[in-house]
Amino acid sequence: MSTPVTPAPSFAVTGATGHLGRLAVDALLRRGVPAGNVFALVRDPDKAGDLAGLGVGIREADYDRPDTLGPALEGIERLLLVSSPTPGDRVRQHSAVIDAAKAADVEFVVYTSVLRADETELVLAPEHAATEDVLQGSGLLFAVARNGWYTENYTAQLPRYLEGGEILGAAGDGRVSAATRADYAEAAVSLLTGDVVDQQGYWELGGPAFTMSELAATITEVTGTQVVYHDHTAEELTESMVGAGADRGTAEFVASLETSLARGELETDSPALENLLGRAPTSLTDAVRAATL
Ligand SMILES: NC(=O)c1ccc[n+]([C@@H]2O[C@H](COP(=O)([O-])OP(=O)(O)OC[C@H]3O[C@@H](n4cnc5c(N)ncnc54)[C@H](OP(=O)(O)O)[C@@H]3O)[C@@H](O)[C@H]2O)c1
Repeated sequence: MSTPVTPAPSFAVTGATGHLGRLAVDALLRRGVPAGNVFALVRDPDKAGDLAGLGVGIREADYDRPDTLGPALEGIERLLLVSSPTPGDRVRQHSAVIDAAKAADVEFVVYTSVLRADETELVLAPEHAATEDVLQGSGLLFAVARNGWYTENYTAQLPRYLEGGEILGAAGDGRVSAATRADYAEAAVSLLTGDVVDQQGYWELGGPAFTMSELAATITEVTGTQVVYHDHTAEELTESMVGAGADRGTAEFVASLETSLARGELETDSPALENLLGRAPTSLTDAVRAATL
């Protein structure tokens, strides 16, 4: 008599042509989920050629076009909802996905939020907190991956730091528990593939904390080029960015994020990231080294 085979659940990842979503698809496959059970949900299937090359299913799913979301979620049991990159639209967009997930009987949703979304003054937090509330009210089983800052927010600027020999900011001695996108993606997949009962709830995720001066020192040590951190007031930073050609709204937004850093709003001592990864998060030194290769 043959043993009955339990079919593997079907997983879907939204924003799969973006940085985090793509890494999450990779992490699912690395974890041994068969490619036939992985669906990359993308706004523009024309951009998904390399994803299709992995053997995963490609489905169109545009947060702004709810008619695409039902078909995209058909047969999906576990969904990673990667937060939208457009502030101001996020609650409507995420709500549309959550409604569609409910209608499609998705078993478990993991949403990428931001650190301490319900209690900080971080300008980005209210839309994440509102999305968490929508999930809470949906009746769906869910986990919230409250991600801290990406290390790539800094490593992507390495050429500029090295050219100018400085990092400009208004973060003071604020510490930021940044981690790489790859680590956050792996953690989200650990939640997504784990036991639903154990994984439900809110996970504060971040790597080892560092100040901007420590970031500058690490860059100096890894590259051999001296980079120093120059701290400003939020107003000075805004004016300096405007003087360099940024529009005032963007400059004020960046300065406001720096103020949150200064207040310690992007710092956590939670061990959750390490626990979900089953290893230490990638160190700042290793992330900077990788970015210089
Ligand atoms: N923690 C942090 O430091 C930090 C920093 C930046 C952003 N974030 C948040 O984390 C999310 C993921 O980060 P990331 O680096 O992967 O961002 P990303 O590379 O910009 O990817 C965003 C993804 O969202 C997709 N998207 C945009 N509008 C959409 C829509 N209407 N419908 C469906 N998909 C849509 C994009 O599709 P296309 O490929 O077609 O453009 C892209 O695949 C961001 O969206 C943002 O909410 C966090």
